[in-house]
Amino acid sequence: MTIVAERDGGSAPAPLLPPLRIGRHEIGSPVVLAPMAGITNRAFRRLCRQYGNDGLAAGGAGGASSLYVSEMVTSRALVERSPETMRLIEHDGDEHPRSVQLYSVDPATTAAAVRMLVTEDRADHIDLNFGCPVPKVTRKGGGSALPWKRDLFRAIVGAAVTEAARRDVPVTVKMRKGIDDEHLTFLDAAQAAVEEGVAAVALHGRTAAQSYSGQADWLAIRQLKEAVTSVPVLGNGDIWSAEDALRMVAETGCDGVVVGRGCLGRPWLFTDLAAAFAGTTARVRPTLGEVTDTLRRHAEYLTEFYDGDELRACRDIRKHIAWYLKGFPAGSEVRNRLALVDSLAALDELIATTDPDIPWPGEPAEGPRGRAGSPRTVALPENWLASRELDETQRATVAQAELSVSGG
Ligand SMILES: Cc1cc2nc3c(=O)[nH]c(=O)nc-3n(C[C@H](O)[C@H](O)[C@H](O)COP(=O)(O)O)c2cc1C
Repeated sequence: MTIVAERDGGSAPAPLLPPLRIGRHEIGSPVVLAPMAGITNRAFRRLCRQYGNDGLAAGGAGGASSLYVSEMVTSRALVERSPETMRLIEHDGDEHPRSVQLYSVDPATTAAAVRMLVTEDRADHIDLNFGCPVPKVTRKGGGSALPWKRDLFRAIVGAAVTEAARRDVPVTVKMRKGIDDEHLTFLDAAQAAVEEGVAAVALHGRTAAQSYSGQADWLAIRQLKEAVTSVPVLGNGDIWSAEDALRMVAETGCDGVVVGRGCLGRPWLFTDLAAAFAGTTARVRPTLGEVTDTLRRHAEYLTEFYDGDELRACRDIRKHIAWYLKGFPAGSEVRNRLALVDSLAALDELIATTDPDIPWPGEPAEGPRGRAGSPRTVALPENWLASRELDETQRATVAQAELSVSGG
């Protein structure tokens, strides 16, 4: 990969933050790959890990790694051992800590899922997803609607921590600010989660009502950092570059950053992030050839992830094409054909028609990508906002929230 660096002066670079401690794990570079449904499977995480390690080498801090979280799986599907869910919790042999994100709406299923993960030695870290804003989830009281019900939230977190503690596996929570500006939950939910024994709290600085619109509120992350002193606070939302990550730390005081959409089609962002936190200015500026090499490698890893099913891997890689090519002068015909690719051989043929020497386009290739969306009224179960405790009708509704979920 083409790496550029400004002259760093004579002195050795100093890390910008101490290592991130998540329970018994020390994460050398305080960077977390955000769980993303349909994206952060074993194949994509492998790419991100490789680039993260390059960044650490560039920063002179070899060996210390970041944390790469799997896409969420539902507790129920895990307990039922659905084959697709079992695939999603796979890790590479050299992946450490092995991180799994769970989506749960019920303490008993949460306990069973966590028990399974730890007794079968399938995870070293478990993250709980309380940030999903998707209407079909919040309508049943799940995801980002759930922390509004203090008793249920506390029971789920407590159940997970108790089961995971049997094998000393740390549990973290990831959440949004709340349902909307009038119904914020992050401060009291974080407090409850800390009391229940979580090892860190991550905040995406948006409400469910914002979905992915507007700008993430980093002031809320700062507020959370001021309120939570006993465990690390991780900031999330709108980090598109290593410079954004440094700025978030400077503005909020957070202990680490969680990066989602910024690395779509750009796994080498982890090189930049690791280098930046190691105190260097080394940044990857890939040529088109280096980008298509990465894209090709991604497709190859996906093929392995899908047990050799090339067509399935190609269908999966299609959604990444526009992100990889963002800002490059690759013609619309080749883009369109890449977005329909159905075999690795076809992918190779199309890549061969592009000019590998085209340099990194700079600005047009940077910045926002992935989900955007517009603000909306959050779909909720009837009378959800009337009380912060769950009533019996709502208990029945929320039990269905786990049945069909995808994405956060
Ligand atoms: C395609 C996609 C899938 C996502 N899936 C999940 C998920 O499974 N679990 C979760 O907690 N958040 C999920 N998120 C939210 C991200 O983890 C992250 O909180 C959000 O994108 C904001 O961070 P960013 O601005 O760095 O992207 C998803 C986001 C996207 C764009």
